[in-house]
Amino acid sequence: MSLKVTVIGTGYLGATHAAGMAELGYEVLGLDVDAEKVASLAAGRVPFYEPGLAELLTRHLDTGRLRFTTDYAEVGEFGDVHFVCVGTPQKKGEFAADLRYVDAAVEALAPHLRRPTLVVGKSTVPVGTAARLATRIAELAPAGTDAELAWNPEFLREGFAVQDTLHPDRLVFGVTSAAAEARLREVYAATIEAGSPVVVTDYATAELVKVSANAFLSTKISFINAMAEVCEAAGADVVKLSESLGYDERIGRRFLGAGLGFGGGCLPKDIRAFMARAGELGADQALTFLREVDAINMRRRSRMVDLAREQCGGGFLGRRITVLGAAFKPESDDIRDSPALNVAAQIQLQGGQVTVYDPKALDNARKMYPGLNYAESAEEAAEGAHVVLHLTEWPEFREIDPVAFGKLVAEQRVVDGRNALDPDRWRAAGWTYRALGRPNA
Ligand code: UDX
Repeated sequence: MSLKVTVIGTGYLGATHAAGMAELGYEVLGLDVDAEKVASLAAGRVPFYEPGLAELLTRHLDTGRLRFTTDYAEVGEFGDVHFVCVGTPQKKGEFAADLRYVDAAVEALAPHLRRPTLVVGKSTVPVGTAARLATRIAELAPAGTDAELAWNPEFLREGFAVQDTLHPDRLVFGVTSAAAEARLREVYAATIEAGSPVVVTDYATAELVKVSANAFLSTKISFINAMAEVCEAAGADVVKLSESLGYDERIGRRFLGAGLGFGGGCLPKDIRAFMARAGELGADQALTFLREVDAINMRRRSRMVDLAREQCGGGFLGRRITVLGAAFKPESDDIRDSPALNVAAQIQLQGGQVTVYDPKALDNARKMYPGLNYAESAEEAAEGAHVVLHLTEWPEFREIDPVAFGKLVAEQRVVDGRNALDPDRWRAAGWTYRALGRPNA
């Protein structure tokens, strides 16, 4: 008989994982404590934007392989394997991760386990969490369930979540027994068959793989943004620099895009939580460079505000500023720690009249930043603008015709925060084009 899988937490990670597991052929029960989310998913509506996910969800609601509930007793009764996919946000006012949702999930699940089970943690957690949770599960699980814990970090990117879930770069299994490894190999048999490599290790290493991957990616972005600062000082071009570096296969071109830097629900909070945990372990010196990575990243935002102010003639008062982009990156409606909205809010605070447009993230932006103005199209946002700021590189912004766009604005000034527009095209249409880390023409 085929394995029955449950997924606890139905955010970006859990909802995608649940649909992905159904696609692999399993009967899946997803749980969330938020009844509204459960009702929405059960009706085939994904409560956030993720390309391809709605199709996958409806397909498996139809096959009957995928269901959702708010009831831990039902989950305990149903599953052979339980994936824990709840969030680990940053604690308010601290760098450390807030583990209350992970702890609550394990506390709620364990007493309901009913037969030999594997609980699999996928959330991003500080190293040492899995060992602690394993002890808790052993204390709470009823006798005879032989409940075990494994740690199997998730590396999916928003915007590519479906693809990353079905075809992961690698599978990391943090386990304490051969039985747990065998069970995970069974769950992921089709994925392994399709070529995803498997690394089997202990809990601590599995937990660390995830945070060190995010630390590396953040460092790569901040490295190129540091080079952008030097390029600006020297009158050099970071886009050409990045291209040239990227041809060296040891360096590689990906995550070497200079601009407004990283945001989102993962990289910023994960590097901070990593520093906090290293401090607790007495290894804080090893990660002091991440403070600099964070600082370089935050400096991008103030540099962007400065460039915009300069383009507005030295002050924002009485100036209309168009912001293209609100999501922290394209192909997502996620605005958590969005560099674009952070810049928009700073400019508004300094007296600018900011109008924001984003293809997918407007509803979320309106809720979190009700004080900003919003438009339903890039054109509407550009009406009468003194400067246009390109802050999230949605493909549709690259397609804008600078000639027609030029007719809408009061002044043809554009600042490209993502180095994604074609400077020659915009300049040829009469625009003053400025970008982070590139020389003025
Ligand atoms: C990231 C990791 O990539 C993923 O493996 C992990 O599981 C979760 O965190 P995600 O937050 O979805 O995924 O976004 P990602 O595509 O990594 O982009 C992060 C940020 O970096 C975005 O704000 C993006 O705009 C920025 N970025 C990315 C750059 O500024 N330059 C680049 O070259 C690449």
